[in-house]
Formats: sequence, structure tokens, C-alpha cells
Amino acid sequence: MAETIGGLLCRAGAVLRAAGVENARAEARRLLAHALGVDAGTLVARAHDAADAPGFDALLARRAAREPMAYITGAREFWGMPFHVTPDVLIPRPDSETLVEAALEAFPDRRAVARVLDLGTGSGALLAAALREFGAATGVGVDRSGAALAVAQANLAALGLGARTRWIEGGWDVPIDGRFDLVLCNPPYVEDAALAALDPELAHEPRGALAAGADGLDAYRALLPTLPARLVPGAVAIVELGAGQAAAVAALAPWAETGLRHDLAAIPRALVLRQRMACIGKQGVPNAGHAV
Ligand SMILES: C[S@@+](CC[C@H](N)C(=O)[O-])C[C@H]1O[C@@H](n2cnc3c(N)ncnc32)[C@H](O)[C@@H]1O
Repeated sequence: MAETIGGLLCRAGAVLRAAGVENARAEARRLLAHALGVDAGTLVARAHDAADAPGFDALLARRAAREPMAYITGAREFWGMPFHVTPDVLIPRPDSETLVEAALEAFPDRRAVARVLDLGTGSGALLAAALREFGAATGVGVDRSGAALAVAQANLAALGLGARTRWIEGGWDVPIDGRFDLVLCNPPYVEDAALAALDPELAHEPRGALAAGADGLDAYRALLPTLPARLVPGAVAIVELGAGQAAAVAALAPWAETGLRHDLAAIPRALVLRQRMACIGKQGVPNAGHAV
């Protein structure tokens, strides 16, 4: 006799709990909803129905092996928009929405942003959010991973933003024509030694999106010096920070004029660097200014 939905959820919850998955019951519900192609909220009311979900055990085994739910369902929401995610891209995190909030604060006039650069675009989440908010802007997404760029390109096309984007495969210093009003960057920032201690789910995400050397600052060291030449006067670069990294990263920044924005857990999450209007040095590198 076929298992009922309620029975399946009990069994799956126990499997996930034994595998160390937090909120095992809720995760089991999401997984079964995905397998059945229905909304998770409808499952409880159908607890006594027979469950016809032939692929479910395979999905359950993947989640019990601590593969992130987003890779199993292939979907994650960011800034209220749906993104397709694969193991080629970091799963966009709610913390990174802090960068978008900082951008909106920096440019109250939404039409003031004409060009956006997203360095290390991954799934394209930050670029999509910026283009959604700054409706007159075009954007460039850069990533050294061609596989990630393919995901980003498909995501922005699916969101109707494809015509406003351009994609470049390369490193932080890849040549790009012209300068930008807004640069967003969520670089890798995890210390090598900390990687092994992180949740098992992180082992499924691209190491190149996470690992940043012995002190977690390698990417900042490489990318921050490239920023002044990317920006027009008055432009803003916003860089995501790992917890506890604000002072160390601000000290590496090629501007003295910086600000911080905190995430919902009150952790400084975004370093805001403003290209000063009147202090462009001979090589286009701004002089030190005042803290904002
Ligand atoms: C932390 S993920 C951020 C992805 C996405 N922007 C987000 O916020 O969800 C970092 C991204 O930077 C890319 N990356 C790492 N090192 C890079 C480098 N030297 N040059 C360009 N991109 C790099 C990775 O491939 C990855 O997609």
C-alpha cells in the first residue's frame, strides 16, 4: 500500500533529523512539495492522502547528504525575485540584500544610476536587484567562472532584464570599457581554516566563491585597488563584508571616505566607498577624504 503524505513526512523528517538537518520537519515538507509539484502549505491538509512521489527518496537522500535545498529545487529568491541556482553559483544570501539597500540609500534619485558593475556576479542576483531598482541603468556582470556567467545570463533573461546586461568572463581587473556609477561586489571572504568548520551544506557550493586565503582577505586585497579606475566621480562602490572584517577591509580600501551598512543581525555587512567629486588625483585615483 502506498505511504500517506503524513507517513512520508514523518519518515523523511526522521531521516533529515538523523542527518543533522535543522528544522527537519519543515525541510521534509518543502522537499515533498517539490517532488509533488505542489505548495508546501497544502500538504498538512492532505496528510491522509496517498503520496505518489516516485522520485522523493532520491531527493531525500541528497538532502540527507546535506546538499542545500536550493540546489535540489534549483531555485532561490533574492530581493523578491526568483533565481535559478546550480552548484556553479553561490546560493544568494539574504545578507547580501544589505548591499542593495545601501545602493538605494546612496542614490535616492533612482535615475541617477546609468551604469552598474557587478563584480563576481555568480547567479546575477545583485545585478538583477540593482537593475530592477535603477530602472534606467544598464549593467555589466563579471565573473571568472564561465559556468556561473551562463547561469547569471539565463537568470537576467528570465527576469526580463537581459537586454540591459553585458557579461564578461575574467578576474577583478579584467578590462571593461567606460566607468560606472555603481559597483557592487560580494567577493569570497572565508578564511581557509574556517571552511572545514562551516555547515556541511557549504561544501556543495563553489569553493572559488567562498575561499579567500589564510585571513579571508585575499579577494579584497586584489579587488579593492581596481575600484577607483572603475568609477565616475561621485560614484559608489559597495562591497560585502564577512562578519568581523569591517575594520580590516576598510583599512585596505583605496578611499578614506567610507561608510558601513549593517545587516538584520546588526553585523556590518556592506562597506560603502564613495568616489569623491573634487578629489580625483592625476591618475584618476581619489585622495583621502573624510569618513561619511
Ligand atoms: C561570494 S560569490 C558572490 C555571488 C553573487 N554575487 C552573490 O552575491 O550571490 C563570489 C563570486 O565571485 C567570483 N570570483 C571569485 N574570485 C574571482 C576573481 N578573482 N575574479 C572574478 N570573479 C571572481 C566567484 O566565481 C563567485 O561567483
